[in-house]
Amino acid sequence: MSAQTDTRQKITVRKLAQMKRDGEKIACLTAYDASFARVLETAGVDIVLVGDSLGMVVQGKETTLPVTVEDMLYHTQCVAAGLGGEQGRALLITDMPFLSFTSQEEAVRNAGAFMKEGGAQMVKLEGGADQAETVAALNRNGIPVCAHLGLQPQYVHKIGGYRVQGRERSDAEKMLADALLLQEAGADLMLLECVPDILAKEITVALDIPVIGIGAGAACDGQILVLYDILDISMGLRPKFSKNFMASAGSIEKAVSDYVSAVKQGQFPAAEHVFE
Ligand code: KIV
Repeated sequence: MSAQTDTRQKITVRKLAQMKRDGEKIACLTAYDASFARVLETAGVDIVLVGDSLGMVVQGKETTLPVTVEDMLYHTQCVAAGLGGEQGRALLITDMPFLSFTSQEEAVRNAGAFMKEGGAQMVKLEGGADQAETVAALNRNGIPVCAHLGLQPQYVHKIGGYRVQGRERSDAEKMLADALLLQEAGADLMLLECVPDILAKEITVALDIPVIGIGAGAACDGQILVLYDILDISMGLRPKFSKNFMASAGSIEKAVSDYVSAVKQGQFPAAEHVFE
């Protein structure tokens, strides 16, 4: 069992790197408003992501593509307020929505707004080697970045659906090479979505920066899920990699703190949540 996080210490990029070195698992969840953000902060969630999944779970859209910079800014402000601003312990990450980083200038402008006006402490963007220059530009401007490889929902029409990525050896090799390139470009964190557990482990070992998985197996340095999935209130089917923590909890607060404990103690994800 890994060591437990000191629940009082502010989560920073340095602290996350230390957690990876110490083998402390990083517990992350999405949130979109102040009230849920407060619950997550109280439960000791390390990273709170204002994901563009809000397009689906908050706005009821079929994909994340319609989500705008204004939507992300508004929800980031709500979550930052619930976390207690800079006094909060959790690190706040905001997703760069579809087509909000088509040039380096646009990426810096939009990410800058999430930080200056929204209270975000890091931004996340989907994409591989093609985004390395954008990551470098953000890095040069003091904007921490979480890269996002594996299944990238903003590419849903390009890849023809939501499916596990990296099963072919050539795809796996490209993902590992992209991960190293993004780290080299200055990414502070890597998110892997729907990746076979063996590949996720290979990438986690190869990178110095922490790797957070969603449907990427237990070897990642941390785990993230969509809050509404663990509370079993998402529309549609719950993905295989998620778990209903509400079923045995009896309250939202208990469900979230059970999730944090399960991640910290290496009990989540279990075999049934993992892709081979
Ligand atoms: O948008 C989102 O919520 C995400 C998670 C699925 C990691 O990117």
